[in-house]
Amino acid sequence: MMPVSMVGRAGELAEFAAAWAMVTGGRPRTGCVVVTGAAGVGKSLLISAALDGLSPRPVTILSGTARVHTPAPYDWLAAALSGRDTGDLPLPPDALAWLAQHPNAPRERYAPDALLRLAVRTVRALVGAGPAVLVVEDLHALDPASLNLVGELATAPDLPALLLVGSRPAEEAVSPRLVAATLARLSGAPGAIRQHLGPLGRPDVAAVLGQVYPGPPVPPTVVDAVWRRTGGNPYRLVELLVAERGRRPEELVAPAPTAELTGREIEVLSCLAAGMSNKQVARSLGISVRTVTVHVSNLLRKTGSASRTEAALWAVRQQLTDPARQG
Ligand SMILES: Nc1ncnc2c1ncn2[C@@H]1O[C@H](COP(=O)(O)OP(=O)(O)OP(=O)(O)O)[C@@H](O)[C@H]1O
Ligand SMILES: [Mg+2]
Repeated sequence: MMPVSMVGRAGELAEFAAAWAMVTGGRPRTGCVVVTGAAGVGKSLLISAALDGLSPRPVTILSGTARVHTPAPYDWLAAALSGRDTGDLPLPPDALAWLAQHPNAPRERYAPDALLRLAVRTVRALVGAGPAVLVVEDLHALDPASLNLVGELATAPDLPALLLVGSRPAEEAVSPRLVAATLARLSGAPGAIRQHLGPLGRPDVAAVLGQVYPGPPVPPTVVDAVWRRTGGNPYRLVELLVAERGRRPEELVAPAPTAELTGREIEVLSCLAAGMSNKQVARSLGISVRTVTVHVSNLLRKTGSASRTEAALWAVRQQLTDPARQG
């Protein structure tokens, strides 16, 4: 992977530092920073940069994420416990083995509420006098028991820990309602900070290009084209830069070749070039308006266009328009 250092998240980093100062100053208390945003927008990178920058250093870091598609209960805790010596913890070994998803764990014999309390006690025992950081990656993919536990920890009294939580929007979750409710619970915890990451702006894209192409500044037209082509999404940006490694920045401008458009997309594009609305396109091609909007957004991305008019112009330039449609 191409090493690109983080750009454009100074405000967010400052908020992490402020949250940590609240946790570490004076009376022990629990803090929470919730970072949401689309896939690849930079949640994980931000959380790891924030973690690296914390001062004083946390005494304990418990970090977990959903590890499989259909995780077992308490998967976050099991991930956080993995490789840790839990022999000294003042908790029933059977329960610990179960929470850690130990292969030899006895069959479940705890009521759900009792398990939740044991899970909280386990975290408390590991955090001790703190200060600790609890990292929860990909909250949207966690099992319901872990969601419950994370909500409980964020509102736990006097837990000297900062929760750093990253999540895609609830709509993308397996259980959207449960994730939405957990995000609301976390955001409502006293002193919680909520950050929603948007795509990078043009200056940030320019800064990334500057890292990859040292020397004369990348021309603004190229920055603009790359920003449009990637939608400012850091993941897409890094992927593009890796794919075009070794070429000149000007070559990043080239829109996707026509071959990458599907037959249906070409049909939709020629309708756009004929000046049709989404409704008219839907009627003309015998598909739903919703499907048309999906095709149009894919077309904008693939052709590197900022609007349907621009995509239509692109089609004309590529001689992709179907004269029959233009009457
Ligand atoms: N602000 C940024 N500046 C430069 N590069 C970035 C920035 N944010 C993210 N990246 C890069 O973009 C890619 C995706 O970032 P990251 O994995 O943090 O996204 P994410 O939001 O956690 O995605 P997912 O929802 O898939 O977990 C990584 O290669 C990362 O290094
Ligand atoms: Mg991530």
